[in-house]
Amino acid sequence: MKIILAYSGGLDTTVSIRWLRESFNADVITVSVNVGQEDDFKKLEERAYAAGSAKHYTIDAREEFAKNYIAYDIKMNGLYEDVYPLSTALARPLIAEKTVEIARKENTTYIAHGSTSKGNDQVRFDLAIKATMPNATIITPARVWKMTREDEVEYAKEKKIPIKIESTKYSIDENLWGRSIEGDIISDPSKEVPEDAFEWTKKEKNGKTKISIEFDNGVPTRINGEKMNLVDLIRFLNSEIGKYGFGRLEHLENRIVGFKSREIYEAPAALLLIKAHKDLEKTIYTPLEYRFKKNIDQEWSDLVYEGLWYEPLRETLQNVGNEMNKWISGEVKMEIEGNGVTIVSRDSPYSPYSDKIASYNKGWYPSEEMAKGFIEIWGMHSLLARKMRYG
Ligand code: ARG
Ligand code: SIN
Repeated sequence: MKIILAYSGGLDTTVSIRWLRESFNADVITVSVNVGQEDDFKKLEERAYAAGSAKHYTIDAREEFAKNYIAYDIKMNGLYEDVYPLSTALARPLIAEKTVEIARKENTTYIAHGSTSKGNDQVRFDLAIKATMPNATIITPARVWKMTREDEVEYAKEKKIPIKIESTKYSIDENLWGRSIEGDIISDPSKEVPEDAFEWTKKEKNGKTKISIEFDNGVPTRINGEKMNLVDLIRFLNSEIGKYGFGRLEHLENRIVGFKSREIYEAPAALLLIKAHKDLEKTIYTPLEYRFKKNIDQEWSDLVYEGLWYEPLRETLQNVGNEMNKWISGEVKMEIEGNGVTIVSRDSPYSPYSDKIASYNKGWYPSEEMAKGFIEIWGMHSLLARKMRYG
């Protein structure tokens, strides 16, 4: 029997290797998917073998993650509950798909992942595996064994499995689009989050910095005039503006699984790019397009968060968003100071903004008659209804 395990290198999945091997008398084949987390994949592989992996695969999915997932999070202004840029949620279906690909290659239908029964990630992994391999048998050690993080550390010691000690305090998930941190003292929302939870947004630089972002068809392509591919552009922003302390989020979040949890995120590039993109959409769209787009953005974000990546509506909304983003090209300049950002200016060839119309000093000026006539007709519905109700 072969079991394919989606292996992150963290505590849960490292302990899982041995547990799966012993519980099922199986060969455990580990798959690590590079979605831009700052891991040393050579070390990860060594750790997998040391913990008992029979064979290890490392798959570089960074370009695919940027092109088919992150680019849509930008186009759809994807923020769950207006806060969280969905970094973990977006990567799960891709990691699951890559794991399924290895299962096919290895001729097995047994697939394992490290999620717990209290989390959102189990929903995303399970549904993505079911969608891409309907006959898969999904095995999740953490849902069976009921070990706490301390128990896992104990188990690892007992079985002499090397783990990354510094990774045992918080539960961290990291990829190109963000870093999610939870557990330990963070779980108490009445307490301040300690500095040691942060990694990407440690303040190394004081003062302000200005940055220009250019978009082509809804996707950022240039920073300060320099053309970059999406992976490099995101990496550049994470490191450059993270240094100012920008990109921290604190969120008391409604999970899919019925309860609230306190989550911390670091996502400098995601927050900056979504803010700039939203501004450009507002600049370019008609008010009707803008209002409609806000609704589909929210619906799309909820579906992604809720593990419904394979729900047909997700793709439909995304196709509409894609079509609407054909016009979202232009430049947004922003100023960053600490964890704050202000838009300084924007410009686009498709902007219907007209100085001649908006200016009080020149050009178009409606006559008094025009203005009064417009207001009378505009308010008629509301004033009539009011009169019927209150006299
Ligand atoms: N709450 C976030 C989400 O549902 C992050 C989950 C992070 N996972 C983790 N293992 N720390 O997407
Ligand atoms: C987990 O329990 O697997 C991590 C947290 C989450 O999925 O929300």
